[in-house]
This record gives sequence, structure tokens and C-alpha cells, in this order.
Amino acid sequence: MRCSAYALAVASFLLHARTAVGQSPAACRNVPGDVDFPPPEQWNALGAQLGDRLVPVIPSAEFCHNLPSGNCTSAQWFSSNFRGEIPGAMEVFNWEQLTDRIVKDYNSNPPSLCLLNSTVCGQGDVPLYAINVSSAADIQTGLKFAVEHNLKVVMKASGHDLLGRSTHKSGLLFWTHHMRNVSFTENFVVGGKDLGSAVTVRSGVPLSMFYSAAEAAGKMVVGGTAANVVPAGGYGQGAGHSAFSPVFGLAADNCLEYNIVIANGSFITANEVENTDLFWALRGGGAGSWGIVVSATFRTFPAFTATYHNSMILAPNADAGGKLAELHAKHIFDWDDVHAGQYFYFFNNVPMGGQGSNFSLRTYFANYTADQAIAAMKPLLDDIRALNYTILFETTNTTLATSLLFLADEPMAYNALLGSRLISEEAYRNNASGIGSAYAKLLADPIAQIGGHLVAGGKVAENGDIDAANPKWRTAKAHVFVAASWPDNIAPPITDRIQSAMTNKWVPILASVMGNQESGAYSNEANGEEPDFQRVFFDKHYPRLLSIKKKYDPEGLFIVKAGVGSEFWDDAGICRKSRSLDYGEILDQSWAFLTSGFDMLFKS
Ligand SMILES: Cc1cc2nc3c(=O)[nH]c(=O)nc-3n(C[C@H](O)[C@H](O)[C@H](O)COP(=O)(O)OP(=O)(O)OC[C@H]3O[C@@H](n4cnc5c(N)ncnc54)[C@H](O)[C@@H]3O)c2cc1C
Ligand SMILES: *[C@@H]1O[C@H](CO)[C@@H](O)[C@H](O)[C@H]1NC(C)=O
Ligand SMILES: *[C@@H]1O[C@H](CO)[C@@H](O)[C@H](O)[C@H]1NC(C)=O
Ligand SMILES: *[C@@H]1O[C@H](CO)[C@@H](O)[C@H](O)[C@H]1NC(C)=O
Ligand SMILES: *[C@@H]1O[C@H](CO)[C@@H](O)[C@H](O)[C@H]1NC(C)=O
Ligand SMILES: *[C@@H]1O[C@H](CO)[C@@H](O)[C@H](O)[C@H]1NC(C)=O
Ligand SMILES: *[C@@H]1O[C@H](CO)[C@@H](O)[C@H](O)[C@H]1NC(C)=O
Ligand SMILES: *[C@@H]1O[C@H](CO)[C@@H](O)[C@H](O)[C@H]1NC(C)=O
Ligand SMILES: *[C@@H]1O[C@H](CO)[C@@H](O)[C@H](O)[C@H]1NC(C)=O
Ligand SMILES: *[C@@H]1O[C@H](CO)[C@@H](O)[C@H](O)[C@H]1NC(C)=O
Ligand SMILES: *[C@@H]1O[C@H](CO)[C@@H](O)[C@H](O)[C@H]1NC(C)=O
Repeated sequence: MRCSAYALAVASFLLHARTAVGQSPAACRNVPGDVDFPPPEQWNALGAQLGDRLVPVIPSAEFCHNLPSGNCTSAQWFSSNFRGEIPGAMEVFNWEQLTDRIVKDYNSNPPSLCLLNSTVCGQGDVPLYAINVSSAADIQTGLKFAVEHNLKVVMKASGHDLLGRSTHKSGLLFWTHHMRNVSFTENFVVGGKDLGSAVTVRSGVPLSMFYSAAEAAGKMVVGGTAANVVPAGGYGQGAGHSAFSPVFGLAADNCLEYNIVIANGSFITANEVENTDLFWALRGGGAGSWGIVVSATFRTFPAFTATYHNSMILAPNADAGGKLAELHAKHIFDWDDVHAGQYFYFFNNVPMGGQGSNFSLRTYFANYTADQAIAAMKPLLDDIRALNYTILFETTNTTLATSLLFLADEPMAYNALLGSRLISEEAYRNNASGIGSAYAKLLADPIAQIGGHLVAGGKVAENGDIDAANPKWRTAKAHVFVAASWPDNIAPPITDRIQSAMTNKWVPILASVMGNQESGAYSNEANGEEPDFQRVFFDKHYPRLLSIKKKYDPEGLFIVKAGVGSEFWDDAGICRKSRSLDYGEILDQSWAFLTSGFDMLFKS
């Protein structure tokens, strides 16, 4: 047998990873405390190889205690921008502490907490080391180390993840926050074809920078409403919705290319002509499952002005909230001709011991004047007035769409668990009263809010199945989530009860408005413990996504909560559930799932 130097190098790489042909891969990743977890000397050697880019990671509260100036101020603690510079910080703070995600038994498995006011800090669910990535080469060096030492890989751009997918106490963290280039072109060429005006952003560029750069370039981009969510991070991989999605489609629909380091260490391009299967999966097939993204390119549009209409209505009790939700459902088609986007929130006073809720309506009208926006909202607001509900205010702001979306910073560091459903257009057309009664039930419980996002329909529906985004987006009218929150100082087991209510009560209430229709959800703003996540988050795309996963990540380096292929790992993504189960078997099962219906495989 001839043996080239290249083959030898590959063989030794594989051997170190204990995955040489004929050998089963290790059942579990090495975690701190294991004999095979790298000792400090090996971490130091990696650090030397990376310049100063290997950084020790501590929970954000400990970071705050250690500031030369003393503890963080409240303003710093709750600032998304401030937290963004802390390698261990999660913006949704509970994910720094919920060991193995949701601790199921606090007595036998007490969580290791580190709260702002803690005097003793544990490591929580924060990794020990991060690579402060500046290039694809840093990623390749780090990934080789992770494979050689059989470590879990964790990726974080902003730490906004609502399912806690960007932190893990046992992983090596690839932190892409400092890769911040933005560049525009009028002619983005793929395979000799000019795809037109586009922007390339590296995987540290947050929305605030995305919008201000677009504005300076006279462009509009598709993005969400947050200061620091990262378009080339989890946002676009999960689908990415915007207040202007009814006009332009999802972020994934507007993505033209990804540059990514995949599991075998190659830095590759995925677009319409190269690695087309991976390109499809990266557009909506779920965050954190495909490799480590270095940059992504999105379509841009000419700048335009828009009007933001903002108003708030008091709902004195849960039934009134239900009545308002029903009225809103009846009027949700009022704005279809302009493809308006809208956030409709109920902020619930119940968890604070109060009554009722505040209904906040925030609508974005492309190309409308203030008068046009006020006229467009009038039928709904008139119906609300007729029922004698108090409208606290009604304001408008007309300016460039990018400045309406731009946020310089935002308050974060709250605790939250979410659950959601994409509510179909059909349910809005035929079951407004059912939607109202579902809201009334939810608002009577101690949930923090029901977030409604009219970010589907229009172009999202028109685009159809062009990428891996959940097909339920295409028939949805709105993405609606229930969020529960709690202060740091209450007894920890509350999270078990909240998680259980989310999974077993609140999400089923949301889903019930669709009657017998099968319902789906947006994986980026969802319940990480969603029982049928394969069907709910990925629908009929799941088998194809799993086959692409097998091709590009055969050893499961990129496993995240409720992500493609995660069902074959334990909750923490550390141990394979069964060494005998390989992807071949999984694929057979999943084709069966496609042909015989979902119930057979995923429901008990
Ligand atoms: C305040 C707030 C507002 C939001 N607003 C919107 C909105 O308007 N529209 C919307 O669609 N969503 C919104 N989201 C949800 C958002 O899309 C998700 O939280 C998303 O996962 C954030 O991506 P991130 O990379 O910024 O976050 P992170 O927490 O850093 O990462 C999220 C996921 O992406 C993976 N990831 C991160 N970086 C990389 C990388 N370089 N390569 C590969 N994988 C990576 C992580 O492993 C993780 O699975 C919002 C969330 C919050 C908390
Ligand atoms: C910081 O906070 C800790 C815990 O609350 C407290 O013990 C300590 O005195 C504070 N330090 C300063 C400098 O304020
Ligand atoms: C920390 O303690 C201070 C003083 O008691 C309190 O005002 C603050 O709200 C606490 N911070 C958090 C995040 O609990
Ligand atoms: C990460 O690297 C950037 C430069 O790319 C540097 O400004 C920053 O301070 C580093 N952060 C940490 C925590 O080392
Ligand atoms: C990114 O920007 C930095 C400086 O801001 C520059 O040194 C680097 O060459 C840029 N990289 C790319 C790929 O454009
Ligand atoms: C890594 O995988 C990609 C995509 O399948 C392939 O093109 C490339 O040749 C592989 N590289 C190595 C070193 O095996
Ligand atoms: C609702 O609005 C009232 C009156 O403006 C305010 O006092 C209350 O804090 C608000 N509640 C929530 C949950 O936002
Ligand atoms: C806004 O109006 C201009 C001029 O009529 C048009 O070209 C553009 O497509 C409109 N933009 C949107 C988002 O509707
Ligand atoms: C609203 O208030 C007006 C004036 O007080 C009253 O006439 C009317 O019946 C009320 N409408 C409802 C639906 O309660
Ligand atoms: C309108 O929006 C712009 C951009 O966000 C902001 O600077 C301005 O203060 C707003 N004006 C009003 C009246 O709210
Ligand atoms: C309408 O919604 C209610 C939930 O409030 C549900 O029980 C009912 O089955 C739904 N009806 C249809 C036709 O989907």
C-alpha cells in the first residue's frame, strides 16, 4: 500500500481523535477532571500557538467582581455592549448558571451559581477557555486541538442565544465577537453570475454596526431588532426575521454566501455553486450545527424611509387581554397591502403581583408617511376605543428604515425561558376568537410576556421553500412566543417549574389555536426542551439536514441543544447516547419518518 505524507498526516489526526476506521469514536467528550482532559501545559502550548488569543473564561459576575475599579455598576451589568466584551457572559443570564441546561434535581445535582451579588462563585455553565478568534487560521488551530483532545466545541458570537446554545461548562469556546469587518459591493459575483448589491460581514458584526454601515452606504439590510445579535452568527443560520421581512423575506432567504471552517478543518465557501448542500443547510437549518462561520454575505436594498407607529393599550385583566388579542387577530390583515411588520407584545403584570397587562403595538410601514401610518392603524384602534380600553399613547417616527431598526445598546442580563409557535395565516383568518381565548388563559398565568411578531406573510410566503428555513414560516402570519422570567434572588428550583409549565402547558396553549393543524416553531426563539424538536423546528427538511450533517460533521463536533443530530447525544452534548447508533441508521430512520409520518418516530 502506498502511503503519502498527506495520508499519514490525516491518519495521525484521526488516530488522535480516536476515530480511525474500524474503531468506535469515544463515547464521551473529555471534560475537566477527566484524565484525558488537557493539562495546563497543553493549554499553554495552544495559547502560545495562538498568540495572546487563548483567554481564560469566568462567569460575568466574577468578571464584574474582579474589575480594577471594583464591582460593576448596574448600568454596566445590564448593558449588552458591556457584557459583549466579557468572554464568559451570556446576555440571557440564566444560561451562565443552569448546569446541564435545566437542572432537573437541585438536591442531588446542585447548580454552581455565580450571581452579581454572590460572595462565592462557581464556574456555572461557563467554559474554562475561549479562543478570541481573529481569523480562519485561529479557528483551524483551535479545532485541531479540540479534535486531538476530544473536546466539546462551543461557539459564541454575541451570547444572545435564548436556548443557551452558546455556552457550556465543558467545551472549548470559539468566540467570534472580535471579527468585525463589513464590506459592501454593487456586484457580488458567484460562479460568474452577478447577484447584485450585497454586504459581507464577519461573524462578530452586530446588528448595530450592520445598520450604521448600511446607512452610511445608502443601503437597507434585513435584520432584527436588537443591538448586538449577530447576522453571521446564529441569527441567519436559524432563519432571521425582521420587521421588514414581509417586504424582503427572511435573512436566510437573502443570504448569498457563507465562509466557514468545517469539522475536517477546511475553510470553505458555500454558495449556489460550491458546497451547495451546506449552503442550503446554513440558511435556516439551525444555529451552531454546521461549522464555525467566519463571514456571510447578504443581499442589500436601496435605502428608504419608513414610519414607525408605536402605541400602548392597558388590559385591566386577563380576559381583557384576550379580547384585545382577538381584536388584533381580526385586524392583522389590515396592513397586508404595504407588507407592514409589527411587534405586538403583552407585558404581563401578574408575575409582579399586579393585574392585567400592557398591550404594546409597534408597527413598521415602508415608504409611509406618519399620516398614512395613523390611518392604517385607525380601524384597530377605533375598535379598541369602542370597547373603552385605555390607549396610553400613540406616536410615530418617520426616518430611514435603518435608523428605525438601529439600537446603540440594549438592557440585557435578564433570566428568561421561551416557548413559541409559528401561528398560521389560516388560524388568524378562521380562529380569531380561539386566539383570544388562548391569550386570556396565558395572561392569567405568571408569564412575563407574550411576544408577537408579524414578520411573515408577504415576501416570506412568496419565497416558498427556497432554503432550509422551517417550511411553517411560509404559511405563517406571525411568530408568537411566551416568555417567563424570574429575579436572581428567588429559590433556584423555580426554573424547573417554569420549564415544566412552558413545555406542558403554555406552548400547548399556543399550539391549540391551530386546532388539528400541525404546528411549527422558530428554532432561535423557542423552548430548548421542545419534545418533537425535529418536526417542530425543521419539519420535512429534517432528513435532508441530517444527511448533510453526516457529510460535513460525521463525528458530531457541532452539537447544540435541539439542533440537527443532537438527539444522538445526551442533554449536555457530551456523551453519545448509544455507541452502536451511527448516522447510517439514523438516516434510515429519518427517511422512514418522512415517508410514514412524524408520529411513528417522534411521538410516544
Ligand atoms: C434581545 C434579543 C432580540 C432578538 N431579536 C431577534 C430578531 O429581531 N429576529 C430574530 O430572528 N431573532 C432575534 N433574536 C434571536 C436571535 O436570532 C438568536 O438569539 C440568535 O441565536 C443569536 O445569534 P448570535 O450569534 O448573536 O448569538 P450567540 O448566542 O452568540 O449564538 C447563537 C447560536 O449561534 C451559534 N453561533 C454563534 N456564532 C457562530 C459562528 N461564528 N459560527 C457558527 N455558529 C455560531 C452558537 O453556537 C449558538 O448556537 C433575538 C434575541 C434576543 C436575545
Ligand atoms: C462587590 O460585591 C461583593 C458582593 O456583593 C461585595 O462583597 C464587595 O464588597 C463589593 N466590592 C466593592 C469594591 O464594592
Ligand atoms: C445586588 O444588590 C444590590 C444591593 O442590595 C441590589 O440593589 C441589586 O438589585 C442586586 N443586583 C442584582 C442583579 O440582583
Ligand atoms: C480579543 O481580541 C481583541 C482584538 O482582536 C482585543 O481587542 C480584545 O481585548 C481581546 N479580548 C480579550 C478578552 O482578550
Ligand atoms: C478586517 O479589518 C481589519 C482591520 O479593521 C483588517 O486588518 C483586515 O485585513 C480585514 N480583513 C478582511 C478579511 O477584510
Ligand atoms: C473537507 O470536506 C470538504 C467538504 O466535503 C472537502 O471538499 C474537503 O476536501 C475536505 N478536506 C479534507 C482535508 O479532507
Ligand atoms: C404597564 O403600564 C403601567 C402604566 O404605564 C406601568 O405602571 C406598568 O409598570 C406597566 N407594566 C409592565 C409589565 O410593563
Ligand atoms: C419605496 O418606494 C420606492 C419609490 O416608489 C420604491 O422604488 C421602493 O421599492 C419602495 N420600497 C419599499 C420597501 O416598498
Ligand atoms: C363605553 O363607555 C361609554 C361611555 O361611558 C358607554 O356608553 C359604553 O356603553 C361603553 N362601552 C362598552 C363596550 O363598555
Ligand atoms: C426617531 O427615530 C430616530 C432614529 O432612531 C431617533 O433618533 C429620534 O429620536 C426619533 N424621534 C422621535 C420623535 O422619537
Ligand atoms: C381555535 O382555538 C382554540 C383554542 O383557543 C382551539 O381549542 C380550537 O380547536 C381552535 N379551532 C380551530 C378550528 O382550529
